[in-house]
Amino acid sequence: MEVEKITVVGAGLMGHGIAQMASQVGGYHVSLLDVDQGFLDRGMKWIKQSLNKFVEKGVVTRERADETLERIHPTLNVEEAYKDTDLVIEAVPEKVEIKRGVFEKADELTSPETIIATNTSSISITLLASFTGKPERVVGMHFFNPPQLMKLVEIVKGKQTSDQTVQTVKTVAEKIGKETVIVKKDSPGFIVNRILIPALNEALYLLWEGVAEPEDVDKAIKLGLNWPMGPFKLLDYIGLDTALSVINVFFEEFKDSKYRPCPLLTQMVRAGLLGRKTGKGIYDWKKK
Ligand code: 3HC
Repeated sequence: MEVEKITVVGAGLMGHGIAQMASQVGGYHVSLLDVDQGFLDRGMKWIKQSLNKFVEKGVVTRERADETLERIHPTLNVEEAYKDTDLVIEAVPEKVEIKRGVFEKADELTSPETIIATNTSSISITLLASFTGKPERVVGMHFFNPPQLMKLVEIVKGKQTSDQTVQTVKTVAEKIGKETVIVKKDSPGFIVNRILIPALNEALYLLWEGVAEPEDVDKAIKLGLNWPMGPFKLLDYIGLDTALSVINVFFEEFKDSKYRPCPLLTQMVRAGLLGRKTGKGIYDWKKK
């Protein structure tokens, strides 16, 4: 199946970057759908800032940046967004009820051939597929933050995802300039988050137990393991709320106490200390 038009649902942290790369590198026509004009405006502002950075660095020409923008159509209109689309990539908040609404609407308004992919980091692909009448065309396409710079896309099979669907989204991801891995089984956290999120949770336990200061934990992991950023900087970057929702899914799905969220994580989320996006998490980003 040849993909020409992509609809990205959600213009947030991930959605705007996915839309940008689909247009910038893949050359696809992209509809960027959201529920609020403010979210669309912010997403387009981020895309322009990122493109300006790429132009500054000589990664793309000004002409290419302008063409990238011309191929992206921000809209609040679902009919318009889904019209003649070949692939939907859902990147809305990690809440089953919100995703359910998107999946049901996309199923209703797109052609039977249209593939519906999700950028979920932890929700079951099989569950999301059950909200549609075509589970064989539902698949995980998990990008990493920031989607403009991170090379990987995990392609995740749900229980009924067809091999043809997997092949189509693999081709699209590669055309967008990404490397892919296939996750053969719909398992919580797929590959990367299954390893990363418990590691970040463990780093929080170090802090909770008073074993070391955040700066020293970050320094240790940067210099001792060659991570590009330490676990606390990364947590602030990902968002503590996202980390908590992923570890909670592990705890519930595996019923294993090794995935118990660190009480400090729960507390910080309750306090609204979510990381860079709220200005304060483990670190104070207003000061930095
Ligand atoms: N578009 C264009 N340029 C961008 C950009 C964007 N969106 N974001 C950053 N840049 C630019 C920066 O402005 C900077 O430009 P400069 O050199 O002119 O200052 C340049 O890219 C490099 O950025 P940094 O200075 O921050 O340098 P780094 O070498 O550290 O690169 C990074 C940034 C690639 C983000 C690197 O820090 C990194 O790999 N960090 C780890 C990220 C990571 O682990 N992501 C995965 C999170 S887990 C996830 O997403 C899964 C989810 O489900 C939870």
